[in-house]
Amino acid sequence: MNEYLPGLEGVPATQSNISAIDGEKGILAYRGYPIEQLAAHSTFEETSLLLLDGQLPTAEGLADFNSNLRRNSRVKYHIRDLMKTFPSSGHPMEMLQTSVASLGMFYLGNECLTGGDSCKDLDYIHNMTVKIIARMSSLVAMWQHIRSGYDPIEPRNDLGYAENFLYMLTGKEPDPLLARIMDVCLILHAEHTINASTFAVLVNASTLASPNSVIAAAIGALSGPLHGGANQKVLEMLAEIGSADKVEAYVDTKLKNKEVIWGMGHREYKTKDPRAVILQGLMNQLIEKRGGNVNPMFEVAKEVERVCEERLGQKGVYANVDFYSGILYSEMGIPADQFTAIFAIARSAGWLAHWREQLKDNRIFRPTQVYSGEPPRDYIDMDNR
Ligand code: COA
Repeated sequence: MNEYLPGLEGVPATQSNISAIDGEKGILAYRGYPIEQLAAHSTFEETSLLLLDGQLPTAEGLADFNSNLRRNSRVKYHIRDLMKTFPSSGHPMEMLQTSVASLGMFYLGNECLTGGDSCKDLDYIHNMTVKIIARMSSLVAMWQHIRSGYDPIEPRNDLGYAENFLYMLTGKEPDPLLARIMDVCLILHAEHTINASTFAVLVNASTLASPNSVIAAAIGALSGPLHGGANQKVLEMLAEIGSADKVEAYVDTKLKNKEVIWGMGHREYKTKDPRAVILQGLMNQLIEKRGGNVNPMFEVAKEVERVCEERLGQKGVYANVDFYSGILYSEMGIPADQFTAIFAIARSAGWLAHWREQLKDNRIFRPTQVYSGEPPRDYIDMDNR
């Protein structure tokens, strides 16, 4: 096949049995399990194991994974010292990419695989996976304190992954509903078939690069505004609108000027993103629990969604996962520039599942190109140019 398709749109880049999307029906499933059921019953830890191993874990398998995560969540002080040298204005995604890439320099067991049977060393793959997932949330939480001039807060051994992350970030034991919302957000962002960052994982994994390098490459791909990051834009948009009575005029002006409404529309989904449906339900639970005493931006968001559904629904443009996640994170006291880093924490589970899947039957990626440059020609001496 010599046809060039920009962005490889529609070109299968791999064969995978990790997740599937039906964009017409608004269905997302991990290993065959609908995202709604995982959000209702699972935890991020259990969902990660499902993505990695292909099956829901036994109680023993899950307990073992949880204790491994806890054991590996503290990072060496060398990494903290390294982070202290970063400028406080540095973006959390730049920090995360640099810090994850540096892990291989401070921990043993990061040697590159050599191909053949070493790629099937499931113990090595499992160990590295646990270590990376465990350290992702610690690094993001550590940065929150280090960039403000404080020492980071150590993780606790008695908290689940989402709770521990919020605890390390804020220094307070989180409200159980907010901790559950964070847990569900991590589940919802853990995997989404072959997107740009997951493709980066496949390409890097196929060279047998070390897993820290593979994940650092994926973090770089996710950091771009065309991939992660729209949830931060949603929050800025809601603040700009200010109140629910100004929504109609705002949306109409944007549409007239052919500008986008952030958090609306998705290349894959032509219905409402199933993850947005779940997040909206959580938002409503929070509003109810607080007796309506929440950030007034929640009302603005609901009105934006109502108006957009009227104006854009016929084009198949509905709320996507980013529409409600940012506002929920802001309710947990998380600064907007950390939102994409939280996305990366969650997605590390999916990335590592794809790393493992790629190694199982590896062939190095080496696509071809359509050459569009000069025909062969002779070198011209400097004096004759
Ligand atoms: N606001 C306003 N109009 C939108 C829109 C949005 N967020 N998303 C799509 N549309 C309109 C398009 O302008 C187009 O209108 P037209 O047919 O009159 O030209 C129509 O809906 C179809 O959209 P299209 O551009 O073909 O969709 P896409 O699949 O190429 O784009 C996105 C998908 C995600 C890039 C796009 O919806 C978008 O930019 N959304 C906002 C950014 C965002 O929230 N990103 C996070 C995604 S998880």
